[in-house]
Amino acid sequence: MTVSQLIAKRTGLGKRHAKKLLESGQVILNDQLVTDGTLPLGKFDHLTAGGEMLQANTPRYLLLHKPAGILSATTDPTHKTVIDLIDEPWASELHLAGRLDRATTGLVILTNDSTFSESLTQPGKKIPKTYLVHTDLPIPPESIEKFRSGMSFKKENTRSQPATVDLLTDTSCRLTIYEGLHHQIKRMFLRFGIRVTKLHRESIGPYQLADLKPEQWVLLES
Ligand code: URA
Repeated sequence: MTVSQLIAKRTGLGKRHAKKLLESGQVILNDQLVTDGTLPLGKFDHLTAGGEMLQANTPRYLLLHKPAGILSATTDPTHKTVIDLIDEPWASELHLAGRLDRATTGLVILTNDSTFSESLTQPGKKIPKTYLVHTDLPIPPESIEKFRSGMSFKKENTRSQPATVDLLTDTSCRLTIYEGLHHQIKRMFLRFGIRVTKLHRESIGPYQLADLKPEQWVLLES
């Protein structure tokens, strides 16, 4: 969308009116007077025309500690979602940059900036995601070898990047994967007949859960 298209749309007075406002020096884009209506406009650019604020979206980036039982979704008819944990008037504008299963706890990132969320979720970006994993049976060395060399996922017709695995006890490890396939970690362990009993995400790329308590969230500087 261009400056003049947005003016025409938001005022409802058409392109001729937009042109008049531009020519008479009544259009301010991010604190600067502009006369060129063909300038492209991003979602977070602020635009005032004829003294009227026509666009003033604020980019928002949140880290949230998802507790077990809460859905990684924006709306749901029956279950509480991560959006229900954010008591702010702008909460409904947010979407998730990657989901967790309902029982999984830990870090989720919410934003209204789709360029940012895509930079974290597109498979080609290979963003590391680190989890604490607890299992019902001891984790055998051959599973660790397989995780470290990469596994094929037929349904998605893909192969995982080599994962990082640190064994903590017989039945727990810290695991870093670079994809976000549906139930990926559970499926990785199930190949060896092992069930994941607890899963907790500690980080996504450079973003850490740190000392956020369950249900707590924090805004990142934009
Ligand atoms: N892998 C899973 O199996 N579940 C999650 O919630 C995240 C990764």
